[in-house]
Amino acid sequence: MSEAKKSSWKTACYQWLDERLDLAGWLAFAKKKTVPEHKHSFWYYWGGISLFLFLVQCLTGVLLLVYFRPGPEAYESVRQITYEIHFGWLIRAAHSWSANLMIFAVMVHMFSAAFMKAYRKPREFTWWSGLALLLLSMLFGFSGYLLVWDETAYFATKVGLEIPHSLPWIGPFLADLARGGPDVSPTTLQRFFALHVVVIPAIFTPILVFHLWLVQKHGNAVPPSEEAKPKEQRKSIPFFPNFLMKDLAMWLITLNVIAILASMWPVQLGPAADPLKPAPVGIHPEWYYMSSFQVLKIFGALFPGTTGEVLGMILFTLGLVLWALLPLYDTSSQFGKRAKQATYFILFALFVLVTTTIWGYLAL
Ligand code: HEM
Repeated sequence: MSEAKKSSWKTACYQWLDERLDLAGWLAFAKKKTVPEHKHSFWYYWGGISLFLFLVQCLTGVLLLVYFRPGPEAYESVRQITYEIHFGWLIRAAHSWSANLMIFAVMVHMFSAAFMKAYRKPREFTWWSGLALLLLSMLFGFSGYLLVWDETAYFATKVGLEIPHSLPWIGPFLADLARGGPDVSPTTLQRFFALHVVVIPAIFTPILVFHLWLVQKHGNAVPPSEEAKPKEQRKSIPFFPNFLMKDLAMWLITLNVIAILASMWPVQLGPAADPLKPAPVGIHPEWYYMSSFQVLKIFGALFPGTTGEVLGMILFTLGLVLWALLPLYDTSSQFGKRAKQATYFILFALFVLVTTTIWGYLAL
């Protein structure tokens, strides 16, 4: 085909699509949108990285679903995926690594939004919807962990569900509802499967769309140091194509990180779960639950019976409520007293999260 013919064919294609989908309108819109540029701009990528990792989770999750069989054959199907199906091990490892990276990226994104004070007016709902996404991501992780049905998955879930069980009044009801009885059993696996592939995605997806719509509506917040500058001194770059290209470069780096981790350290499969066996020593939850696990352990050791665990849970819930209320407390747009207190609170939260997580691993 000659060059002239090729380009007229392209133009015709473009026109056909433009008449139906208003491509020119979308393009003009993307070119008008700008993203602030300053020395903290690096942190703007983390929301996009979280989004990319979520997409990887959806894709690898659907591929796993082709071979995974919930029910009595769950363990056998994971064994086949890991050892028999071509590249099954890679998809399983990518799903597992990307899940961990996603929660890590969401946490980095949350703390960077907190330090930039991006929760302030008019972004309160962006903050709250984001927080809901983090909690749901952690539930994704918890429900997915059991599906493998090996020894570690079984006992980690058993220990994990004992935590809500110790809550006064509703605790036993909640734990029994999640387990489908007094013990972790194949019924629990069936329930966790429904949660993992239907219920949580059905709640997560509309909240994510709402979160992204809000980001689009309000644009990116700038950190207080930038806000203090006169408007003419603030720099920005067009979203399309400049920022999008940088975003895509970050996604490519993330994909490489997943590929390296998944191929160098593929996830293992332990012996099948046997409820009659004693729990292996040092059983512990995933790293993102380690902080709460350790706080409960400390309180459990300080106060006898279930009092300690209940106190620990009350403290953690209180911390979470205060975290959610940050946008309503730190409302000024300048460096006022409340702004400083909020920054100390964020620093304190980060410190507690990191130290209790490390402490948890050291105490195993
Ligand atoms: C799966 C989880 C999440 C995804 C996929 C996601 C995605 C995004 C994206 C793509 C952006 C725009 C780019 C950026 O500023 O980074 C954004 C902005 C934002 N997100 Fe999230 N997010 C998630 C979780 C969270 C969490 C846990 C919080 C906080 C509790 C949060 C709070 C915010 C805020 C306040 C903004 C606006 C930032 C600004 O204006 O600069 N997000 N999010």
